[in-house]
Amino acid sequence: MAASPLPASPVAATPAPASTHGGRDAFASNLGAFAATVGSAIGLGNIWKFPYLTGSNGGAAFVLTYLLAVALVGLPVMTVEHVIGRRMRLDAVRAYGRLIPGKPYWSCIGWVGLASAVLIMAFYTDVAGWVFAYVFKSVTAYASGSALTPDTFGALAGGTWEPLCWQVAVLVLTTGIIAAGVSKGIEKVTKTLMPLLFILLIACDIRALTLPGASGGVAYLFKPDLSKLTGTVLLSALGLAFFKLSLGMGTMTTYGSYLPDQTRIVPNAARVALADTLVSLLAGLAIFPAVFAFGGKPAGGPGLLFNTIPLVFSKMPMGGLFTALFFLLAAIATIGAMVSLVEVPVAWIVEKGHAKRPVAAVVTGCGMFALGVLATLSQSPVLADVKVFGKTFFDLFDFLSSNVFLPVGGLAIALVGGWLVSRKAFVDEMNKGHTTERWHGRTVYWFIRFVAPGLILLILLNSLGVIRLA
Ligand code: PHE
Repeated sequence: MAASPLPASPVAATPAPASTHGGRDAFASNLGAFAATVGSAIGLGNIWKFPYLTGSNGGAAFVLTYLLAVALVGLPVMTVEHVIGRRMRLDAVRAYGRLIPGKPYWSCIGWVGLASAVLIMAFYTDVAGWVFAYVFKSVTAYASGSALTPDTFGALAGGTWEPLCWQVAVLVLTTGIIAAGVSKGIEKVTKTLMPLLFILLIACDIRALTLPGASGGVAYLFKPDLSKLTGTVLLSALGLAFFKLSLGMGTMTTYGSYLPDQTRIVPNAARVALADTLVSLLAGLAIFPAVFAFGGKPAGGPGLLFNTIPLVFSKMPMGGLFTALFFLLAAIATIGAMVSLVEVPVAWIVEKGHAKRPVAAVVTGCGMFALGVLATLSQSPVLADVKVFGKTFFDLFDFLSSNVFLPVGGLAIALVGGWLVSRKAFVDEMNKGHTTERWHGRTVYWFIRFVAPGLILLILLNSLGVIRLA
């Protein structure tokens, strides 16, 4: 099989002003590129999913596997997505469809990505609805001098109309932002508030770590018990790495298409992965010490965040207000990730269906809501007993997207980048603007060809029972 040279970037043919590429928007600076990529990566995955999966997968052994998955698989796959995105300067479906001459079927990576975006949004908007509800609930609880308890969460998530209304509100807000074409403005707000979330997380950490009995939580996070490693742990950690870094579905390919030529792809991707992982670890350090200090259960499931954070701030002066602020900042971070998810199908409907943006946004929002209802009601008596492959709709959508679609998409992306595109063309794009080949570029390329696809394949085969790793 002859490796194909990457097609010449349309940019090379048509010189464009500094911040546009052939009429497409581009991030104006390296910092802008970094901040926007981080904006898609940081979201519920850090503060809700990372702690909840860590708790249900036994703690530090999962964290260790997750960190390895980010470094050995996530970073190489992000590099490929950015390289292909920047070289093609197209949306994901067309970027992969036109990448290898005569092989338009690689656009399937973009197609699976579209399906992943809809599946993810179906449960993501449910959880985002809980976050928005908690902003409201913590303010009213503070005003009335009452406290948020696990019952508060149970009643919300297990309800029927309340979670549905919040989910609709979240969908209307997100699709409204996209329909109005103000995503860029929102991105700016998100970016400015992100450092605040960071600071508040550190405040939570200090509070949680100074609670009596906190050390149990730190050990739970960082002292691995390798006997806890199972096939499920490996697959969940790999799935989380993809979900966290928004990989395997074309989001990062699209973001790559906005990267300025002077951005050095590998160091930029490494910084994004590092910042994102740091936020997850900070969230873990806010939650687990408190879980141990208050005698809670680490395997508290999807409600872990909602039941623990109010406890962390309880008995602190103005604790209720801090809780509200925490959920507000979390809600804002979530909007950035959701906008990047909804944008995937919207961009495709606008370009392929020649629809206007508001129409595309409404169609996408309705599709996401149709599946979203199933996810939301699967925690209420209405659908709680309905199981598909032994999973509720919520768990099924989460499992299918993170543990099947994204890793399989990531495998295809790594194989395309490492084996079907010529090495020279790939490395040229990766190192653009730098004459010497850097050690990190060479190392990452090796990871792209062998390590990342090899590990994904091993973990998938292990989950299918074809081989036995753990
Ligand atoms: N990375 C986001 C988060 O952690 C979720 C996401 C997944 C966003 C895939 C875009 C694409 O919350």
